[in-house]
Amino acid sequence: MSSNIKICCIGAGYIGGPTMAMIAYKCPDARIEVIDVNAEKIAAWNSNKLPVFEPGLDQIIQKVRGKNLFFVTDQDRAIYEADIIFISVNTPTKTSGIGAGRAADLKFVEKCARHIARVGKKGQIVVEKSTLPVRTAESIQRILETSHGKNFQVLSNPEFLSEGSAISDLKNPDRVLIGGENTTEGAAAIERLVSIYENWVPREKIITTSIWSSELSKLIANAFLAQRLSAINASSAICEATGADITEVAHVVGTDQRIGPEFLKASVGFGGSCFQKDILNLIYLCEHLGLFEVARYWEQVLLINDYQKDRFVTRMVKKMFNTLSDKKIGILGFAFKKDTNDTRESPAIHVAQKLLAEGAHLNIYDPKVPAEKIYTDLKIDPTHTAESPVQIYSSPYDALDQTHAIAILTEWDEFRELNYTQIYESMLRPAFIFDGRNIVDIPKLLEIGFEVHAVGKGSTR
Ligand code: NAD
Ligand code: UGA
Repeated sequence: MSSNIKICCIGAGYIGGPTMAMIAYKCPDARIEVIDVNAEKIAAWNSNKLPVFEPGLDQIIQKVRGKNLFFVTDQDRAIYEADIIFISVNTPTKTSGIGAGRAADLKFVEKCARHIARVGKKGQIVVEKSTLPVRTAESIQRILETSHGKNFQVLSNPEFLSEGSAISDLKNPDRVLIGGENTTEGAAAIERLVSIYENWVPREKIITTSIWSSELSKLIANAFLAQRLSAINASSAICEATGADITEVAHVVGTDQRIGPEFLKASVGFGGSCFQKDILNLIYLCEHLGLFEVARYWEQVLLINDYQKDRFVTRMVKKMFNTLSDKKIGILGFAFKKDTNDTRESPAIHVAQKLLAEGAHLNIYDPKVPAEKIYTDLKIDPTHTAESPVQIYSSPYDALDQTHAIAILTEWDEFRELNYTQIYESMLRPAFIFDGRNIVDIPKLLEIGFEVHAVGKGSTR
């Protein structure tokens, strides 16, 4: 059914690139073109240094790029020729105007709809891949109607992959969700999209719903996941205060089949481009609907996350004799989680800014995040000098040399394997480790001589 189908994806970001690569890989007869307003990004997708780091992505791109997957700049033609157009642009939180700080900014999505209305043709299927507020499809429909009449279909097909495991999530998803209109034409459009996913996803894992249920399910799914993290992080505070151990508590809680073991790791706080933005969006929706109690309920998930990030810094200050002034702290990890080069809403940004406000000097190491990105995130002039309070290193050993403390902010696997004896020798005394991801071997580090403070665990030296 997907034979010779032509697909255009608008938005070549963390979602557009990997999802289209997977469709191209699994549907060799489909021809897929990915476009973006950012020509540099398109050039990067066509180069040896992809703009997105994801395990396994390079290999898939090598297999399909130039064969049936193309990153192109002639946007109007790509839109015109497509049978199916995915909208995969960013939907960040609005920073000004009505709903600022809460509502999703839909200007990029609206621009896509107007672009399609301008250069598209009748009979095309427009798919919302971006995460959108409920009833956005209605606005897209209205814009398309201005030039296409009723002769098109809008579907909702939210993406559930997680960064860092995008390729395996896309290959073997828990479910694919497709929402469409409850009409003969709507059902036909849904079936057309189903036929693409059916090339590798079992039919029973493809859920079809109304458009509104599909749009809302995506927001609620993220809110549920984030809620789990705030629940475990709130519990980590109780553990630190009582001597209980969050890893043991999470294990016990997670063995209840109704709860499950995944997504229960306490940390320095959750980050990423979606949880905060999507919950804010949900809060805005609830307030708009007059459901203020529901809005406050979801807001608490975000407040606990802010508390968790602040608590990490407060603990550092307290344990390091109530002052960080002129102390050198080695930061291990800046990405919002391992196996990605993405720093959007990374807890490391918040923690680093707070440490700087306390007068600390930071030596930062991350295996995948470029130095310029770290400077931009910290609003620091990249033409830094040796006197700058932030220095970025390409080796963890150089970053930790002569430091007072280590703060582990991303759970990169390589941080488990470092030579901590060598690191201890190069640090000042007492040598502190603050583990925001619970990845270090505490007994081993204590034996070496470190003072260890891990999230959700009592302090030990
Ligand atoms: P991103 O910022 O990485 O990519 C979006 C791209 O769209 C950018 O390259 C931008 O230049 C481009 N763009 C913006 N307006 C455009 C326009 N008018 N025409 C052409 N290109 C345009 O964002 P992302 O992380 O890929 O997220 C995209 C959407 O997917 C968001 O709604 C997000 O909530 C959702 N989502 C993201 C994830 C994730 O893990 N990143 C997971 C599920 C869903
Ligand atoms: C999340 C969801 O997991 C995806 O299903 C969803 O598609 C996506 O948001 C989205 O809509 O964008 P993502 O943000 O990429 O995916 O990554 P997660 O694995 O969910 O991690 C989010 C944050 O939670 C990270 O900072 C991570 O370190 C933290 N986390 C995760 C924990 O602190 N503990 C855990 O047990 C799991």
